Amino acid sequence: MPMHVILGAQWGDEGKGRILDAIASEAAIVARYSGGDNAGHTVTADGKIFRLHLIPSGIVHPRPVCVLGSGMVINPQRLLAEMEQLRSQGVACDPERIKISPAAHLLTPMHIALDKAEEASRAKRIGTTGCGIGPAYAEKSYRRGIRAEAMAQPEECADKIKAHILRGNEMLEKLYGCPPLSADAIAAEFYRYAQILGPYVADTLWLVDEALRNGKTVLAEGAQGALLDLDQGTYPFVTSSSTGVAGALGGLGVGARSLGRIIGVVKAFQTRVGEGPFPTEETGDIGNRLRGDGSLPWDEFGTTTHRPRRCGWLDLVLLRYSTRLNGITEFVVTKLDILSGLNPIRVCNAYRGSGRDYRDLPMGASRLDGFEAVYEDLPGWEGDIRQARTRKELPGAARKYVEKIERETDVPVSLVSVGSNREEIIPWN
Ligand code: GDP
Ligand code: IMO
Ligand code: MG
Repeated sequence: MPMHVILGAQWGDEGKGRILDAIASEAAIVARYSGGDNAGHTVTADGKIFRLHLIPSGIVHPRPVCVLGSGMVINPQRLLAEMEQLRSQGVACDPERIKISPAAHLLTPMHIALDKAEEASRAKRIGTTGCGIGPAYAEKSYRRGIRAEAMAQPEECADKIKAHILRGNEMLEKLYGCPPLSADAIAAEFYRYAQILGPYVADTLWLVDEALRNGKTVLAEGAQGALLDLDQGTYPFVTSSSTGVAGALGGLGVGARSLGRIIGVVKAFQTRVGEGPFPTEETGDIGNRLRGDGSLPWDEFGTTTHRPRRCGWLDLVLLRYSTRLNGITEFVVTKLDILSGLNPIRVCNAYRGSGRDYRDLPMGASRLDGFEAVYEDLPGWEGDIRQARTRKELPGAARKYVEKIERETDVPVSLVSVGSNREEIIPWN
């Protein structure tokens, strides 16, 4: 059985957690391949809301083994808090269920302090989540990061952490004028984390490989979205990891020949948290309507930072770009229900710039300024569609909206989500 990849096709928060949950019940392994606790994946099941940041969404089902892959940066404090929260909701989080790659990197309070200091010193803010992601990946690239395998020896782990904090303090104090962190206190904390989390570190390379060779289903869970990819996203307004299919291979150590379905999760409209270009952004009534006022669990406010998300119309130019970059074989469309009652519904089908229209991005996603979105108006529909369980039960205009996405991207849709609950989903074929 090949490995199927589930990735965000926009700027994150497409509903990846919700979709993973919808398809993961029979999987042997669900493996997160990149990012850290900057991610916030929400799963609503059996009347409970599970908010996941580091642990793959497969954990909500009893069966899948959940892997935290080598492409991740892991804050042990946040991981332990997440395990506690899940346990309080009745989910087992033992070393049989959760396996950490020895090659994943540890994220420390120093990374968080440096992220915040760097962000505060920037003339043009990125609007990071403040979780320490950039500095953690920078240290990995410098080849002086501390990997999860260090937790096998708590004392050595603590020594490494102490040296890392002392070195980081140099930067914190001299470069940013910030107070230093206590190396001894943080080293002691990590000694404790290593004692607890050491047993979770396992040979995940072998585990995934064995599952694939034995014909079992492996799902690779993406975090963030294709347009936040470090290389191909809207640089520098991106995260610091490989969010796309390349990240799934590198971040789990799986060869390209093992790839199966590449499932792009697409929200029926566009959202973005943090700074950066957003050609279809709606800052007035439409934006507010798409966002919601925060009173409903699925309103567009960040799971991790609670910041209001910027909202706008679906951008098919960028969706074609994500599709091409990642070889997306199918889409799952989420939050179609949110468009109910809007009329017309607009989609951006081209960009206008330098006197001509482009259906595809003429250059990479880091050069979006100077383009104007060209819209097509589509008829809307009235009424709540969350009860629909088949294609036929949807209003014609809603069906046509989904078909428009398929036609304009040349990618088939396999599922349409019309609500956040497990059962609120429509098979599309
Ligand atoms: P992720 O980061 O891609 O996993 O997405 P988030 O969990 O950050 O944000 C998606 C939000 O939308 C969550 O609150 C989900 O429960 C919710 N959601 C997902 N699909 C649907 C849907 O089809 N309809 C509605 N109303 N909410 C949805
Ligand atoms: P999920 O997995 C949406 C954004 C931040 C910021 C930029 C860089 O829930 O879809 P970082 O802290 O990563 O250095 O911030 O990336 N960002 C996300 N936006 N969803 C996410 O995750 C995100 N993770 C990071 O808002 O603009
Ligand atoms: Mg999210």
